[in-house]
Amino acid sequence: MTRLLFTALLLVLYSSAFAKKDYNKPHGHGPVLSPYKPGKFEGLSLNKSEEKKLAEGKSVMKQSMPDPNDPNPAGGAICVQDIQAPLDAVWSQILDLDNYKKKVAKVLESKNYKVAPQKDGKYQIKTKMVMGVMPGYKYTSFYDHTFHPREGSMTWTLDYDKTSDFDDVSGHWHVAEHPSKPDCTRVFYACDIKMAGSVPKPIINFIGKVALKQATSWVKKESEGSPVANLPKPFDSAKDAILSK
Ligand SMILES: *[C@@H]1O[C@H](CO)[C@@H](O)[C@H](O)[C@H]1NC(C)=O
Repeated sequence: MTRLLFTALLLVLYSSAFAKKDYNKPHGHGPVLSPYKPGKFEGLSLNKSEEKKLAEGKSVMKQSMPDPNDPNPAGGAICVQDIQAPLDAVWSQILDLDNYKKKVAKVLESKNYKVAPQKDGKYQIKTKMVMGVMPGYKYTSFYDHTFHPREGSMTWTLDYDKTSDFDDVSGHWHVAEHPSKPDCTRVFYACDIKMAGSVPKPIINFIGKVALKQATSWVKKESEGSPVANLPKPFDSAKDAILSK
């Protein structure tokens, strides 16, 4: 009898530990973090020593300047990096979401499940991404990106029609011509993540500044390695809008 109870208990423990989350159910809530607006990051300026760091190929971290009228301001850091490659080469890397696994550290899986042209030359891109931050800490998230070629931006939040392991996400890539060097690009990257439940410190640290620096550094490395890359197929028609900036 006790043995039977014991077996039953083990079975219950086993099934709860390995219970599969149904990622196809809605997330349970909408945006918590404010979405970013496409275009230039407002109020961001770089002084002489920051310009020098950028010219040396290093990244610079800035604090975002929240809109004082925003009740839920995105309070994250912005990472700035100069890249010795033209705008379209940089976009060809950022938009290559299906191949992030090959290029971006800690990305275990990345696959678009919807790419849809919108009005005004915009695109909606929905992507499933799995990140393995540390052994045993794997995060599956479903992102809803909007690529705004004319504003030189891609913004994203979670896809709230699916369940993600992160509680909320709000991000922004802004890609601009370098203010003085021809054929050189300056990128700005912000990605605020709200975690669900309690999270170990090394994960928090990674999700914060480390991940920001890594994002701009892989884009720099790949773009400088392929400075004449074409935009991934579905985005062909955005090329003129990107280059007319
Ligand atoms: C430039 O800005 C950084 C960070 O905002 C600051 O630490 C540094 O002292 C500033 N440097 C100059 C020369 O103003």
